[in-house]
Amino acid sequence: MTSQTSAPEIKIAKGLAGVYSDTSKVSKVFDETNTLTYFGYPVQELAEHCRFEEVAYLLWHGELPNAEQLKTFEAEERSQRDISKELITIIRQFRKDAHPMDTLRTAVSFLGVEDPEAADNSRAANMRKSIRMMAKIPTIIAADFRIRKGQEPIAPKKDLTMAENFFHMYFGQVPDAKIVRCFDASLTFYAEHGFNASTFTARTIVSSLSEIYAAVTGAIGSLKGPLHGGANEAVMHMLLSIGDVSKTQSWIDDALTHKKLVMGFGHRVYRNGDSRVPHMTKYFHDMAKIANGQKWVEMEDILAKNVIEKKGIHPNLDFPVGPAYYLMGFEIPIFTPIFVISRITGWTAHIMEQLEDNKLMRPLSVYNGTPQRPVQPLEKRKAA
Ligand code: COA
Repeated sequence: MTSQTSAPEIKIAKGLAGVYSDTSKVSKVFDETNTLTYFGYPVQELAEHCRFEEVAYLLWHGELPNAEQLKTFEAEERSQRDISKELITIIRQFRKDAHPMDTLRTAVSFLGVEDPEAADNSRAANMRKSIRMMAKIPTIIAADFRIRKGQEPIAPKKDLTMAENFFHMYFGQVPDAKIVRCFDASLTFYAEHGFNASTFTARTIVSSLSEIYAAVTGAIGSLKGPLHGGANEAVMHMLLSIGDVSKTQSWIDDALTHKKLVMGFGHRVYRNGDSRVPHMTKYFHDMAKIANGQKWVEMEDILAKNVIEKKGIHPNLDFPVGPAYYLMGFEIPIFTPIFVISRITGWTAHIMEQLEDNKLMRPLSVYNGTPQRPVQPLEKRKAA
């Protein structure tokens, strides 16, 4: 008598689309209303009422700080902004045309090598390391960019907010408060977004009980890709390649006819728009007024109208952020590193959450390779 075993039907979730792999308290992406909350607070309200430092505190502590708590937190962050001479020496040795996300990844990995607490996975130590990374990453990015251009790095200042200090270290001056406000809001919008590719990478790395610098280094590698964080740069390259308002309609007609990917549109979770976009678009429009960038506004309006009407696909956050950063005067290759200045907060919040109730990430795959076969000794093997 033969027995029959019926294997359960295996459904493959390519790209883990639609898969819930854990619970998380950090943020919620509401696909039904296209909104996003950090520990229950709508992100657009956070951008309007809080500075980025308050949002960082919220992501790590679960509550917004009061004035006293913010003061202590900011004093700690400001005291950690300097980077070591050894790290500056390493940055000077980087190839000048190396990708800035690769140099940042290498520098953050070196922060781990320098940190005697690197192996301590307690929450208290990870909190200290998170603040250190938040404080030092902007200094690394600004130093790297200045050295590339043959300029000397500018030391961070303790009497400036994170946003102000970044402009100071990058340009040598702090611009008008409206520009700083726009930059600060973008940091809040970028800070956290659930189990996106880079956050999931960070959680996966630390799920083996590796450590926080390894997880952040891996997350930077993941964020670099144009389907993820690299999209803010790709949006600006796209706008520059179109070149002019008068050429935008024919460009988008051609792109849609040939099913080309239009950068800055689409999202795995939001299918009907993203609540961050109208708010960030207002900041982008402010920047356009300040920096004479009406052309980019008109071009984006044409692109958005066409892609929404003809494809039903809505812009994502990178669509207004790309030209906003460009109008602030930043070079395009720095857009994704700026994303890291912000997302370090979300990544590290998730790393700490993962370690609190850890389970090694280990999904399965359905094997579709060569069936089992014997190994031939070398002398009997023929050329394939
Ligand atoms: N431009 C043109 N078509 C797009 C598109 C875009 N930006 N985004 C999605 N589509 C199309 C896909 O080609 C697909 O069409 P098809 O069904 O005819 O093959 C359809 O819309 C569904 O998209 P899907 O592949 O299911 O989306 P996804 O969830 O796998 O991918 C992104 C999401 C973000 C990777 C994707 O929208 C994209 O590549 N966008 C551009 C890059 C970007 O802006 N990334 C930043 C994300 S925050």
